[in-house]
This record gives sequence, structure tokens and C-alpha cells, in this order.
Amino acid sequence: MKFFVDTADVPAIAELNDLGMVDGVTTNPSLILKSGRDILEVTREICSIVKGPVSAEVVAQKADDMIAEGRKLAGIAPNIAVKVPLTWDGLKACKVLSGEGRMVNVTLCFSVNQAILAAKAGASFISPFIGRLDDINMEGADLIADIRQVYDNYDFKTEILAASIRTVNHVSQCALIGADVITAPPSVIKAMASHVLTDKGLDQFTRDWAKTGQKIL
Ligand code: E4P
Repeated sequence: MKFFVDTADVPAIAELNDLGMVDGVTTNPSLILKSGRDILEVTREICSIVKGPVSAEVVAQKADDMIAEGRKLAGIAPNIAVKVPLTWDGLKACKVLSGEGRMVNVTLCFSVNQAILAAKAGASFISPFIGRLDDINMEGADLIADIRQVYDNYDFKTEILAASIRTVNHVSQCALIGADVITAPPSVIKAMASHVLTDKGLDQFTRDWAKTGQKIL
């Protein structure tokens, strides 16, 4: 399973990258806003740190404009994956940009049918948003499972990039289902290391060690 980090926070990306936790990065207009940085500048900096795919999202809504923006974003670095929304125009842009040999991440996917169209249009990645489905009382993880089954049924090569990951349970659910990639905020990736029994066990060992009066160094 590949880990992408869902942020444009460069120090946070660098910290996780140093630990070998980063196979790629995803950004979106909201994350660029949060970073307070210029999209071209911050994306270039991320690409200089991370070797894997770095998703940069177009903001136009007409196919021709998305294609122009996608080409500009792809010019930042060879590892850019152009992110386009799952609209009819986005699919047209996906077809053209993927036909030019560029990686395309089709985002804002909320149904199996949308995922089928993205695969047919040549997407490298499909991004189903599971947290946002949970937000409306649907079971986001079910969508990942359904897309996995359909893609396997027809041997579609598009990678399932589980997005809108909000909890550590989302990560394990996606891993069990067989998502190819998860993209999660740094806080969720770090929280995966936590377990109450680890903390409790460490506390006990620390207290018992102090009682021995010994030192290792
Ligand atoms: C990823 O590509 C998406 O931009 C992101 O996961 C959305 O997450 P959110 O629903 O928590 O904003």
C-alpha cells in the first residue's frame, strides 16, 4: 500500500518523507489556501522533496481551460499528477492529458459509475472521498470496496487512491479492502503509531526500570 500525504505543508511533508512514509503527495485548492503559499512555488518545492506523484489540481471548469492549466502544472516537474474533477469536462481533460503521457488524478469521486468513467478516460488515479460520504451518513469505505471489485473484474489499471481520510480506522479499512493508495493528513499518519496499550506498557516498563537503579548508557 502506498501512502500519499494530503497537505501542502512542506515541513510536515519533509518530516514524514525522511521516515520513508511518503510515496506521494496530494494537494487541492483548499490545502493551497491553508498553506498561504503560491501554488506554483509550493508545488515546485514539494516536488523537489518527494520523488513520487505530487497531485496539483486545476481550477478551471471547461475542458480546454483545464487542459491548459494541467499542462502548466505538469511543467513544474516530471512527477506532477494533474488533478481534475470528476465532471464530464474533467473526463475530457483526463483523456487529453493522459494521452499526452501525463499522470492524471481524477478527484471528487463519489460513485462506482464515476470511477468506471475515469478508468475509461485513462486516469492514473481515481480519488474516492470516503470521509465526505461518511459526513452524509453513507459508508465511505463501501465505495472503495465496490470500486476495487469492479476494477478487478475488468482489470482496469487505474489506481484507487482513497481520499478524504479522516481517521486511523479509515486507513486500516482501506488497507483491508485493498486500496492501492491512501492519502491522509500528516496528523492521521502520525496517529497510526498511537495505541493506549503501548502507552500503558511503556509507562509500566519505565517505572520498573527506575526501580532497578540500572543504566544502559
Ligand atoms: C485528496 O485528494 C483530497 O483533496 C482530500 O483527501 C479531501 O479531504 P477532505 O474531505 O478531508 O477535505
